Amino acid sequence: MHYAAITERLAHTGGAKWAIHQRCRTMNAAGADIIELTIGEPDQPPDPRLFEVCHASMLAGRTGYSNGRGEPELLEAIAARYSRRRAGVDSQNVLCFPGTQTALFATMMGLTGPGDGVLVGDPFYATYEGVIVASGAHRESVPLRSENGFRLTAEDLEASITPHSRVLLLNSPHNPTGAVLDAGELAQIGEVCRKHDLWIVADEVYEELVFDGNFASPFDNPELADRVIALSSISKSHAAPGFRSGWAVGPQEFCDKLLPLAETMLFGNQPFIADMTAFALNSDLPTSARMRASYKHRTTLFADTLEKIDGITPFRPQAGMFIVLDVSGTGLDGESFAWRLLEAGVAVMPGSSFGANAGALVRLSLTVPDESVVEACARIKRFVEGL
Ligand SMILES: Cc1ncc(COP(=O)(O)O)c(C=O)c1O
Repeated sequence: MHYAAITERLAHTGGAKWAIHQRCRTMNAAGADIIELTIGEPDQPPDPRLFEVCHASMLAGRTGYSNGRGEPELLEAIAARYSRRRAGVDSQNVLCFPGTQTALFATMMGLTGPGDGVLVGDPFYATYEGVIVASGAHRESVPLRSENGFRLTAEDLEASITPHSRVLLLNSPHNPTGAVLDAGELAQIGEVCRKHDLWIVADEVYEELVFDGNFASPFDNPELADRVIALSSISKSHAAPGFRSGWAVGPQEFCDKLLPLAETMLFGNQPFIADMTAFALNSDLPTSARMRASYKHRTTLFADTLEKIDGITPFRPQAGMFIVLDVSGTGLDGESFAWRLLEAGVAVMPGSSFGANAGALVRLSLTVPDESVVEACARIKRFVEGL
């Protein structure tokens, strides 16, 4: 049978990246004792009030169809949140999606097509490859250098631009490295984007998980208002990834153009999820502060121990749910290191899942209890010393 080219384009962008994670799950199900540091599932439950609001909303009959843009109360809540960051944002600047992932996919489908280039820092979040090539566009790598703390610089961005470049896909706070760009760096990056007439798609899903200092965004710069689309969700901020509730905020023209695409894909979201999300955004809940404190603490637990081990170098993240290690001093690349470490009882993501520039890295999740972090460090130490 015939399948469309998109299936080919996406065929090699997914599964293999998660092979160690899947293998760990299979081994643990068969009775092994492997510490799973592969994916970033918040290790806290969502605030119980989110369940109560969802439940009450369902009982109140909010189980019908919504519309393509989103429920009015949620649009207002999102617009209010972003208008505190930049004046003049209203519900016409917002589209609701089931998570940042869907918002990324729809945004890229709306902005790019065959032959278009999407600039993205390398290393990058594992699903970006698929999100970019789905529309027929291609990825244009901007190196994120370890000596710069994996921060995207305006110079590296400008040097990577080609005549095909249409979009900068910017991720700050960054997965996997935990780098957070500041307002000055973003102003320089914004200037380059203006000069070369690029869209900026800002994936800000970790915005609430900056350990120290402030979160900054190109969205907040009025001079970039016509070219920035901010994407986020309650997945990380409210420890609620399974609810699938996110959004895109951008120019009204962008939202109007994208609306038919959103309607075609989704036929609206679930009103009871929208009610819960509006409640979450309008309330001051303790979830993200708790996560920030515990992920910051585990960063220190990991880094203080691992930096004493010859052959591996931890990079302390400024935000998020992960810490990366450079393992090249062991003589292994990230991929071989991760597979061999799995046999030693710790599952980590190989850097190769996050781009060509990450081959020497492995990524460890901060979402396991402190005791597991301590035990994982002991196993990593034994493993490295035994190499
Ligand atoms: C950088 C980044 N963007 C997007 C997502 C997906 O988020 P959501 O659950 O909102 O779809 C993740 C999830 O891990 C992520 O790390």
